[in-house]
Amino acid sequence: MSQRTPFYITTPIYYVNDKPHIGHCYTTTVADAIARFHRLAGRDVFFLTGTDEHGQKVEKSAAAAGATPQQLADENAAVFERAMRLIGASNDDFIRTTQARHERQVQAAVSRLIASGDIYLGTFEGWYDEGQEEYVTENAAREKNYTAFNGKPLVRAKEENYYFRLSKWQPELEKFLAANPHFVKPAARMNEVLGRLRQGLQDVPISRTNFSWGIPILDAPGGAPGRHVIYVWIDALLNYTTAIGAIDRLCGKEPSGAEDRSAYWPADVHLIGKEILWFHAVIWPALLMALGLETPHCVYAHSFWISEGQKMSKTLGNFIDLATLEAYIDRFGLDALRWYLLTQGPLRETDADFSYAKFVEVYNADLANGIGNCASRVGNMIEKYFDGRVPPAPQTAVFRFPPGSPPPSAIQVQPQDVAASLETVFDWPRDVREFVHKAEKQFRAVDVAGALLEGIALVGRVDAFINLTAPFKLAKTIEANPGAKDQLAAILYCCAEAVRVASLLLAPAMPAKMSQLWKTWNCAPAGGVPLHKVGEFGGPHALRPGGTIAKGEPLFVRADAKEPAPRPPESV
Ligand code: MSP
Repeated sequence: MSQRTPFYITTPIYYVNDKPHIGHCYTTTVADAIARFHRLAGRDVFFLTGTDEHGQKVEKSAAAAGATPQQLADENAAVFERAMRLIGASNDDFIRTTQARHERQVQAAVSRLIASGDIYLGTFEGWYDEGQEEYVTENAAREKNYTAFNGKPLVRAKEENYYFRLSKWQPELEKFLAANPHFVKPAARMNEVLGRLRQGLQDVPISRTNFSWGIPILDAPGGAPGRHVIYVWIDALLNYTTAIGAIDRLCGKEPSGAEDRSAYWPADVHLIGKEILWFHAVIWPALLMALGLETPHCVYAHSFWISEGQKMSKTLGNFIDLATLEAYIDRFGLDALRWYLLTQGPLRETDADFSYAKFVEVYNADLANGIGNCASRVGNMIEKYFDGRVPPAPQTAVFRFPPGSPPPSAIQVQPQDVAASLETVFDWPRDVREFVHKAEKQFRAVDVAGALLEGIALVGRVDAFINLTAPFKLAKTIEANPGAKDQLAAILYCCAEAVRVASLLLAPAMPAKMSQLWKTWNCAPAGGVPLHKVGEFGGPHALRPGGTIAKGEPLFVRADAKEPAPRPPESV
């Protein structure tokens, strides 16, 4: 691993008995934007996603499809990998729980916990509904008069299972959560966890014997696989450590491969949906404590997408599926879809609605009329008035309106358009530093929308500056007033340089479009230079006066809300 500070971010691993949809794509896109931001900020990032491939549901779906579970898993894992490519995920690895590297380490972890007494063999006895293949609580059994769902009597059944001694970790967990109030985010989710924790923890069964599609526990004589397979959730949670060889390392095995990734542990952010919070906020840290591994820094649980005002469900058939997302990508481009997901998505406590009307509104406001229009406005004026060459940078990039008693360093520009009676100061180096600083802070706090909107706000500031200084009017006065050319140069240099920095803040969401801009403006950021340096207005990485700025294709073409919503070809 390099000298740079590591940053490790994960998504849930997705079940292969489902097809990818907006929910999976959303979590991965958010994690991707955060990963890209931290790379830009100069950190050594490891970004993990993958698929969860064991369990009874997969076994049953495979049987229904006339395939083996492994065949189904192979097929659907490939579909998920393609989905991740489609949305532009820059993950560093894709873990599958049927991979040997994962299975070997999960078995080692469970054996270790059996040896330490944290996992023990116990017996469960209760009322069993044979038709439904499930246990019924004593109360429910009494209420149903000990009758099963299919009308037959419930039977008394007994099962031997391995249990994780979760109850033992209650005091440690309480201490841990009290000492780390930001471990679970957003705050409302932390309160949910604390509330449920107060009700007390019970040991949890972590093995199954009624199906075989799972990782066998090595509990037969001589450490051979026995008849118990590991409960899919224990298997799945461990992926965050097995992918980087942290269990191998724990067991004193040299991780294979040139790179020792185990140093990425503990994870900085586990990004998940709110429905799987309990596993990540309680069971996972307890397992790690039992294993003697460090706990992650943060579990961030986002809310859910709904579709055109309704919950997405199989019965309603209203999932925003991959084909629909592809139709949006075909019409608006990938970066526009990412922008919508990232800025309008359910990152915080409330669910978010995926609506076509809103998509068009946001697309036009932020992209077509926002960064797209601003970049082409500035580019066109530089093309027109400076032959497509970056104009000379002004001595000072501080502008004061209206010119009253400016400090010696401020440029005085007569407002051309607005009868500005209010005093306004554009101190570009200071203002840009503030935008960058705020965006960095928000990205670090997983406030992705907040961070990205700083980029758009910076674009808005450039637009306001253009409106106030009206360079196109100033240009008409050049012949009569020789000083006007210098003023025009100062204005356009500042606009272009501010747009360059805005593009850096927007790049985690829109890597392709911002690269397109960097190409036409010859300003791709140098790799490995931290954001606060490469994003310094007028600093060593600023636009070079004399460098070319080509006109280029428009970044975003305005959308018409009257056009029907994009639909996958087969459903048109
Ligand atoms: N395999 C488990 C996770 C194991 S992690 C150790 C699982 N898989 S899943 O395929 O059901 O994916 C669930 C995740 O997909 C959610 O936690 C969330 O990240 C994402 N989403 C699924 N539906 C969603 C929405 N409607 N909206 C937003 N994201 C949601 O659970």
